[in-house]
Amino acid sequence: MATIILGIETSCDDTAAAVLVDGKLYANVVSQQLEHQTHGGVIPELASRAHVKRIIPVVEAALSKANIDKKELTAIAYTQGPGLLGSLLVGNAFAKSLSLALEVPLIAVHHMQAHLLVHFIDDEFPTPSFPFLGLTVSGGHTQLVQVNGAASFNVLGETKDDAAGEAFDKTGKMLGLPYPAGPIMDKYAQKGIAKFRFGKPSVEGLHFSFSGLKTSVLYFLREQQDIDPNFIQKNLFDLCASIQKSIVDILLEKVAQAMAETGLNQLVLGGGVSANSGLRNALEITNSQVFLPPLPYTTDNAAMIAMAGLLKYLENDTDVLSSEPKARMSI
Ligand code: KG4
Ligand code: ZN
Repeated sequence: MATIILGIETSCDDTAAAVLVDGKLYANVVSQQLEHQTHGGVIPELASRAHVKRIIPVVEAALSKANIDKKELTAIAYTQGPGLLGSLLVGNAFAKSLSLALEVPLIAVHHMQAHLLVHFIDDEFPTPSFPFLGLTVSGGHTQLVQVNGAASFNVLGETKDDAAGEAFDKTGKMLGLPYPAGPIMDKYAQKGIAKFRFGKPSVEGLHFSFSGLKTSVLYFLREQQDIDPNFIQKNLFDLCASIQKSIVDILLEKVAQAMAETGLNQLVLGGGVSANSGLRNALEITNSQVFLPPLPYTTDNAAMIAMAGLLKYLENDTDVLSSEPKARMSI
C-alpha cells in the first residue's frame, strides 16, 4: 500500500499544503498572503487570520490536485516551529483535528530541517547522501549545519544578528523596495554592476553577521543623498548588485571555511534566499557538489514538510495529539 503524506505549512505568511505519495510529489499548493506587502513586513495578527481563512481551501486544493481522498491519507505532517506562534497554532490545530478525525498519525516537523530535507523528494533532481553540509538561508535563519541523518542536525555556525533574508529585506527597504525585497533585489541586481563596496564583517568561527552591512549601506546612502537627492533612483540597479554581492560574499566565505574544516564535500542549500541567482551562480562554479533546491522548493512550501514528515514516519517518529507549536526551536 502506498504511503500518502499530507504536509501542512503555516509558519509565517504562506498557507501551504502538499501531497506526497511514496516520496513523489502529487500536489504542492501555496497561497501567498499579499496583504503584508503594504505594511513593509509580516504583521503576525494578519497572518494568523489569513491562515484561518485559507487553510481549508488550500488543503482541499492539494487533495483534489493529487486526486487523493482524505480517507486515503497515511499520516499528516505539519510545521511545529520555528515561526510566528499565531500562524503555527492554525496549522497545529488543523492538523491535529484532521488526524483525530481520520485516525491517522500526526507528525510534527521542524521548518528549517524541512528546508534541507526537501532535496529527498523523489524527482528528477539529484539527492544528497548523509553526511552533508547544510546552509539554511531564510527570512529568519542563517545557519551552517552538519546533517548526519534525517534526525541528526549539528549546528556549526549561525548568524549573530540578522538573517540573510532579513539583510536583503531591510537594505531593500532603505532603497524603497516593497516587502519582501529579496526577490526584487535579485531581479534588479541582474541589471546592475556591483561597483559599490561595503565593509565586510569579521566574525569568529563559522558564525555570520549582517547588521554591519545594514549600517554601512544606511550611512553610505545618507552621504550620497546629501550630495544628490536622486542618488538611489539613479543607481538602483548597481546598488542592488552591490548589496547582493556583499551578502553572497559573506555566505561564501563561511561555506568555504566550513567545508575545509569538516571535510564535507556536499553542500545542500535550503530557505528563501537559496532562490537568489547571485548565490546560485556563485556556488555553481565551485568545485564541491552543490545541491540547489528547485525554485518552487526554495521559499516556504508544504512539499518540504511532507518530505520531512515521510522520513519521520518511516522512523516511527510520530507525534502526540497534545503537542504544541513552538515559536523557537533549535534545529
Ligand atoms: O524560507 P522563506 O520563504 O521564509 C522563511 O522561513 O523566512 O524565506 C523568505 C526570505 C525573505 O527574506 C525573502 O526576501 C528571501 O527569502 N528571498 C530572497 C529571494 N527569494 C526570497 N532573497 C534573495 N533573493 C531571492 N531571489
Ligand atoms: Zn522557510
